[in-house]
Amino acid sequence: MTSDEIRTAFLEFFESKEHKVVPSSSLIPHGDPTLLLTTAGMVQMKPYFLGETVSPALRLASSQKCFRTTDIELVGDPTHLTFFEMLGNFSIGDYFKKEAIAWAWEFVTERLEIPRERLWATIFLDDDEAFQHWRETGLSEERILRFGEAENFWGPAGGSGPCGPCSEIFYDFGEEVGCGESSCAPNCDCARFTEIWNLVFIQFDQDKDGNRTLLPKPSIDTGMGLERMTTLLQGKTSIYETELFALLIDNISRFVGKNYGSNDETDQAMRVIVEHGRALTFLIADGVMPGNEGRGYVLRRLLRRAVLYSRGLGSDRSLLTETAGTVIGQMEHVYLELAQRGDFILKVIQLEEDGFAETLNTGLELLGGLMEQAAGKNVDTISAEEAFKLSDTYGFPIELTSEIASGRGFSVDLAGFEREMEKQRVRAKAAQKFAPSESAALNNTLDIKGTIFTGYTSLKEKTSILSLLVGNDSVGTVEMGQEAGLILVDTPFYGEMGGQVGDIGEISTPAAHFSVIDTIRIPPDIIVHRGRVTKGSFSVGVEVEVEVDRENRFDIARNHTATHLLQAALRQVLGEHIQQKGSLVAADRFRFDFSHLAAMTKEEIAEVQWVVNDRVRQNLAVSDEDIPYRKAIEEGAIAFFDEKYAEVVRVLKIGRPLFSAELCGGTHVNSTGEIGSFHIISESSIGAGLRRIEAVTGRGAEEHIGRRLLDLEKIAKYLDSETEDVANQAQNLSAELKNERRQRLALEKQLARGEAESLERKIREVGGINVLVERVAPTSIDNLREMSDSLRDKMKNGMVALVTVYEDKPVFVVNVSPDLVAKGYKAGEIVKRAAGITGGSGGGRPNLAQGGGTDKTKLDEALKEVEKYIEELGSS
Ligand code: SER
Repeated sequence: MTSDEIRTAFLEFFESKEHKVVPSSSLIPHGDPTLLLTTAGMVQMKPYFLGETVSPALRLASSQKCFRTTDIELVGDPTHLTFFEMLGNFSIGDYFKKEAIAWAWEFVTERLEIPRERLWATIFLDDDEAFQHWRETGLSEERILRFGEAENFWGPAGGSGPCGPCSEIFYDFGEEVGCGESSCAPNCDCARFTEIWNLVFIQFDQDKDGNRTLLPKPSIDTGMGLERMTTLLQGKTSIYETELFALLIDNISRFVGKNYGSNDETDQAMRVIVEHGRALTFLIADGVMPGNEGRGYVLRRLLRRAVLYSRGLGSDRSLLTETAGTVIGQMEHVYLELAQRGDFILKVIQLEEDGFAETLNTGLELLGGLMEQAAGKNVDTISAEEAFKLSDTYGFPIELTSEIASGRGFSVDLAGFEREMEKQRVRAKAAQKFAPSESAALNNTLDIKGTIFTGYTSLKEKTSILSLLVGNDSVGTVEMGQEAGLILVDTPFYGEMGGQVGDIGEISTPAAHFSVIDTIRIPPDIIVHRGRVTKGSFSVGVEVEVEVDRENRFDIARNHTATHLLQAALRQVLGEHIQQKGSLVAADRFRFDFSHLAAMTKEEIAEVQWVVNDRVRQNLAVSDEDIPYRKAIEEGAIAFFDEKYAEVVRVLKIGRPLFSAELCGGTHVNSTGEIGSFHIISESSIGAGLRRIEAVTGRGAEEHIGRRLLDLEKIAKYLDSETEDVANQAQNLSAELKNERRQRLALEKQLARGEAESLERKIREVGGINVLVERVAPTSIDNLREMSDSLRDKMKNGMVALVTVYEDKPVFVVNVSPDLVAKGYKAGEIVKRAAGITGGSGGGRPNLAQGGGTDKTKLDEALKEVEKYIEELGSS
């Protein structure tokens, strides 16, 4: 059977047992901060097991994309993978052990036709129930073995959550391949047995401290590795011999012109490259981008390992894009996202590879230098500081430093490196203001549950003061003139969150007045109104009238709704790979950060702007709805995958049929027409694969465009032109200016050449060397360099220092002939000293350097400094 046939057989089998087949979830676990990446089929079922979300059916089956980081180093052996597919059937409080065991047996023996005499089962120590059900299948007693927690208790995935005792099915390759020990049985280290299917009897919810509570209803979670089953059914001994990998290997082996199977080292390299290439393809398709932390770092690490192995194969061309291309073709019929994002995946890989090639060259050079130095001092260790600098400043991965160093007989102080990393983390944390721990502490002292937010529907409210803060201290009263934080029982003020800034407005009593200049949020939901008492005083418990600044709020709402329209428009114009990476929604403007590899073209920007404005003109209805998180995601609402969302989330929808649906807690307009108009001010890069758009709406857009028109009028006035004709006029003028400049430069050049000739006779001899130190007529630095080059060519054993004042600033060029460089004369040093005197700086190589200053009155002094340098060196 091919892997496709096995996958289909599995899903059809469980469909026939009334299971609903659900698609694989993303490798990025949605709304699950306990996990870096999806590690099992049960990950998307966790909220169902826990009763947090209602499942679409009580019986589910899937083929899940999984990634496990634990085995990265083992990749290349016959069985370990980072990315794999897990086939699983799940009962959400429906059937339990009896059916799970009976169906697993039926599928394996009847559908896959694995001979019964090859099968064994393991169960948890005291699980007599499972024992009984295995006996019912006809499996003999001696083939049902009991093991403890290490072998037969599964989970939780990621430190907390659903888990339970499990039962595993093993395949027996036969005594002849075993270790021959009398104790040899499933779970033995030798090659005789392999686990093919894990049936987990989900019964507990385990917390972070390891405490287990019984779940209301026992459930089933099973997992069978597709690649392993394929290997087995195809009678192979390594996953790389199955059709899943054979094609990939074949592809790159032809590419590098080396046969697979002829050399252990190159075979291993090819296996690692195709495995990692396949994993990268799936990670990128699900939105993981290379980075220095978390899953971004996992991706980067895989890519770098594969690039190094490619180099080992003698290939300077990318074997990863080759592999990714093949994987996409091979798997896109199962995982549509590969087809949708194909080009994007290849581009990400290519860019990251190019970047790494550069890092690698620099790092290798530096590391080589370090090892040479160390050897010179008879030391065989690379220090923690050196390794840290390589990694932190030059991006050269510690794994590589360690690998390369050990290959040349050096060790790396890895423990010290970890300490440096920790110090770095502490520094980074200290730099973060309003750290969550601080706010949590504050929250505890306040002992307040949270503020009720009424601001989706109202902007004015009567409420009372729950608490008053001055700095971080709770106080009873605040007086006129004091800056304070007010916490109210309920409030229409929006506290800064999700990129949307806090509201401003007024809080008052008949005798007192507080001006709110910002509203913030102490996690999870205490809203603090920050500002100043401008009249009277406020005490805890008093009733107040509060009112949000309407105009400001509407400006913010226009911008916030526009970010949603913008995201949808970007996806429409640039593709589905666009993911929001951050945003700032203020009253006067907003910015939106997103993943995209190339700068947007003028046409793309214009099109996105047009799409958004078109939706504004259509005056689409904006509505919100509170629905279960799962349902929202299933309906395609856009979420931040890294964030932990509540069970029930607010989905903001625009248009019918839907133009946009996003999980969002912010405040919005009621219909898109209120936005008025939308205008993109800039589009720029903010890092590898990250772009930023800044835009304005409504009043902001009107103001922005108004200012531009005003500028245009001014320009027209300066050019004595009509605004309609200003572009033509400006073009003519600019052509004229350029022409004049060209002529001036040509003239300057001619003069400079003449002057250089006349300077030849001024070359003098000082202490046996030829020296020319001169101030020349104003000319550009390029001309100065040409003059000094031509003069230096005329003399052996010489140095030329020329200075001039160009565009009102001192400029220096120094040239030193190679024989003098050898004697210790340094052009860079001379320029640095001379330029320094005129309030500037400069530098360059020992034979040629240039610099500039600010104070032209110090020029003579600077020249004297040059003379001094020559004398000093001459006499030394
Ligand atoms: N969650 C179990 C595993 O990962 C069974 O699916 O093995």
